Amino acid sequence: FKIKQLVDQAFTKNNLTKAEITALLKTELKDLAYLIEKADQKRAAICGNQVHLRAIIEFSSYCKQNCYYCGLRKDNKEIKRYQLKKEEIVKTAQMASELGYQTVVLQSGEDEYPAQTIAEIIREIKAKTKMAITLSLGERDFAAYKLWREAGADRYLLKHEIADRSLYQKYHPKMSYENRIESLEYLKLIGYQIGSGVIIGLPGQTPEILAEDLLLCQDLELDMIGSGPFIPHQATPLKASKQGTVAMTLKFTALSRLLLPLAHIPATTALGTIDVEGRQKALQAGANVVMPNVTDGKYREQYQIYPDKICVNEEAGDCRQCIGGIISSLGREVSQTKGHSLRKD
Ligand code: SAM
Ligand code: SF4
Ligand code: FES
Repeated sequence: FKIKQLVDQAFTKNNLTKAEITALLKTELKDLAYLIEKADQKRAAICGNQVHLRAIIEFSSYCKQNCYYCGLRKDNKEIKRYQLKKEEIVKTAQMASELGYQTVVLQSGEDEYPAQTIAEIIREIKAKTKMAITLSLGERDFAAYKLWREAGADRYLLKHEIADRSLYQKYHPKMSYENRIESLEYLKLIGYQIGSGVIIGLPGQTPEILAEDLLLCQDLELDMIGSGPFIPHQATPLKASKQGTVAMTLKFTALSRLLLPLAHIPATTALGTIDVEGRQKALQAGANVVMPNVTDGKYREQYQIYPDKICVNEEAGDCRQCIGGIISSLGREVSQTKGHSLRKD
């Protein structure tokens, strides 16, 4: 097969077969300069120079799930857990708004945080700031999704993580792939902009599976698609597994841009953790979003999804400045808009 021909087809038709995507994912990154170039060109055509910042508040590290890869899993007894109170969350959101952020992401483990309190938090943030609100709270019951949407939440971020059902089952004990997908479909139905995506490099994940992931993301008509490399955590069953690669993450990012041209695509913190230039590389391979941390510095160490996470010793203002510098060093600009979905459906 010819790389150029496939990339041109993806660029003009946003369309490749599973076999074609797989072939590209199996090609070494050094031979894929054309893919990266065309993804960057597509990003420029669709999103311009604007990079959207989404301020993330990691408000609780309690989790009832046991995802095999994650340091916040319930069975990890080695970490101290914390949960921010409603007032602290609203105050942090106000501070993010004062720093100029246009979107706040409320993220937590699958905590039992009362759905009503979350709704009150959403209403207060909406009353006190002009920000868009993204929720990233894992799977909750459908009534809660509805309640939060009615309270004013704009978007929901729920990665499907891996499109292979048996691997999904293996790495997510007591969870269901079907419920994950149904959650995403329901969220879209009731008016959320939806984001999903994958962890790159979970053991057993093949280029064929990653091709399925991309096709699933197309089927779901995602507004946002994220991919972060898997980083092994010492207190999880996957502690001895190999880390995901920068190369595969960049290939997936570039293909995301070509196959879902209107999607918002983040340059992830996980990629910035395994490579100091990781986020810069993703921003030049199709990404147009960065999600800086605004959580109070004293909690950052404890939200240990994976080891050596960047920004653990910084505060919100430091990260805002750092990101601003990264973006202008690439000749790009921080967007002054909310950065809602670019899809018109
Ligand atoms: N609990 C919610 C959920 O699972 O959707 C939100 C928080 S969870 C920590 C956010 C994301 O972290 C997950 O979607 C997963 O992809 C990612 N993650 C967890 N452990 C990771 C690891 N060891 N390496 C890279 N990413 C990881
Ligand atoms: Fe909990 Fe999310 Fe981590 Fe799974 S990925 S253990 S649901 S915080
Ligand atoms: Fe936090 Fe660079 S984004 S220090």
